[in-house]
Amino acid sequence: MSFRFTRRQFAQTAAAASLTALLPRGVFSAPAAAKKAVIHADQEIATVRPEFHSHFAEHLGSCTYGGIWVGKNSPIPNVNGYRKATVDYLKELGVPVLRWPGGCFADDYHWRDGIGPLSKRPKRVNIHWGQYTEDNSFGTHEFVEFCRLIGAEPYFAANVGTGSPEEMRDWMEYCNYPKGSTLSDERAANGSPEPFKIKYWGIGNELWGCGGAMRPEQAATEYRHFANYARNFGGTELFLIGCGPNGNDAHWTRGFMETLANYRMQGYSMHFYENGSRPPLDFTPETMYAQFNIFPRVEQAIVEQRTLLDTYDPARRIGLILDEWGVWDRIPRSDEERYGRLWQQATMRSAIGAALGLNIFNRQADKLYMCNIAQLVNVLQSVLLTDGPEGKNCVRTANYWAFMLFKPHRSKQAVKVEYDGYSLPLAPAGGRGGRGVAQQEPPSELSLSASRQGGELVVSLVNPRHDQEMQVDCELRGVTARKGSAQILHDSDLNACNSFDHPDRITLKPHEVSAEGNRLRVALPPLSIVTATLQIG
Ligand code: AHR
Repeated sequence: MSFRFTRRQFAQTAAAASLTALLPRGVFSAPAAAKKAVIHADQEIATVRPEFHSHFAEHLGSCTYGGIWVGKNSPIPNVNGYRKATVDYLKELGVPVLRWPGGCFADDYHWRDGIGPLSKRPKRVNIHWGQYTEDNSFGTHEFVEFCRLIGAEPYFAANVGTGSPEEMRDWMEYCNYPKGSTLSDERAANGSPEPFKIKYWGIGNELWGCGGAMRPEQAATEYRHFANYARNFGGTELFLIGCGPNGNDAHWTRGFMETLANYRMQGYSMHFYENGSRPPLDFTPETMYAQFNIFPRVEQAIVEQRTLLDTYDPARRIGLILDEWGVWDRIPRSDEERYGRLWQQATMRSAIGAALGLNIFNRQADKLYMCNIAQLVNVLQSVLLTDGPEGKNCVRTANYWAFMLFKPHRSKQAVKVEYDGYSLPLAPAGGRGGRGVAQQEPPSELSLSASRQGGELVVSLVNPRHDQEMQVDCELRGVTARKGSAQILHDSDLNACNSFDHPDRITLKPHEVSAEGNRLRVALPPLSIVTATLQIG
């Protein structure tokens, strides 16, 4: 799809003049770029599944230990051992699904280590993330209780790399069998008489890499073997997830799906990180654009992987899951030493990255089942940051607010959009993607998505440019706007962040938009994300 208006065409419209009035005077020196969009409110794509806004928590650095779990005797304010600020902030945000315990960690995790009396739980070495020892004080019960506290659906990643089908089927029985078997009675004795009813089970993580360095055919053979022993204990219907590709690797998907040969599988996961070449607080406009320019590759990967899956699964019974995604910057060693492995500060740039991803999920709502950003607290593109595992401070990052801005889309129907500069498919990227660093850095342009339900139309717009304000004129097709309101996340410094000294520098503010008849007009300052909610007739 390609859609372009010339600047001259736009400048000739009277709308441009009225848009200028919406921008704060004297703030920007460069002339605003006029952008045009069409929102086809009468052309529905699919439901924006709340699961597109799901998360991932690994035993890595200070994500689980310190970020989520501080222990019941901690001086850090806690709810039964869970960091109170984490619980409160996540409840407010809403986490639809939470994947655990890894990541790479999952394929070296043995669930029995994390149940029973704390004093008897073994200490294990975390071989993937720095060889520190785990005391296993956070295990199955603690994770499920955390999910219940924040209202998330638990998603377990089962161990294929160093595990066995027996270990996985036992974990399923332990969790889901109501009562009367030795394993279910053990669960009850450990404090949970009611079955956990865990539905989502990933069978192996990154089996092409840290999960066992397998070939796709081998990974699918393992999958079949493990899945063969999975049971819907106690009537909990399982949703089994097979290990998909690193990025847009068609070779992996073909090899896996051929060998799978229609064997039972409900979800297929892919991972696609957006690597950055600079430390989080030290991006330049060029390196920022290089990172942003990976996002169209993500969108293309979703389209192409779904198309490929369709050849094996034309009825789309298998859901495509973007199981891990997010910006992965060059993290300074000093930050990791101080706060934990992969501790990554989040900036206005990161928030724009989050919004670029969330816009993609709306636009491709018919092709996706779930998306889990990496990771929940402290690690990579997190929504919360603490000053290390022992630190008392906990801030909501710019990413948190980007997710908040997209919350109004949840469960609405995504609708088709066209806008200046948006076009798919892209030219072939070469390589298999997955840890993408773009080669060229042309400045990124407007990003947009929309959804509707009943009398509401929600539109999210992103201006990723650091040097250019945008005045966006959206034509609404199939609906009439009566009024609209909006919120904005914006900072003109791409490296601005919510620090422990200034925890609320980047936060949501009201933003004026003009919504009337078949027109929505939005002024976007450089580096901004706006969500407008329109009352429609
Ligand atoms: O999220 C960090 C790591 O990235 C995960 O452990 C792994 O699955 C991926 O390579």
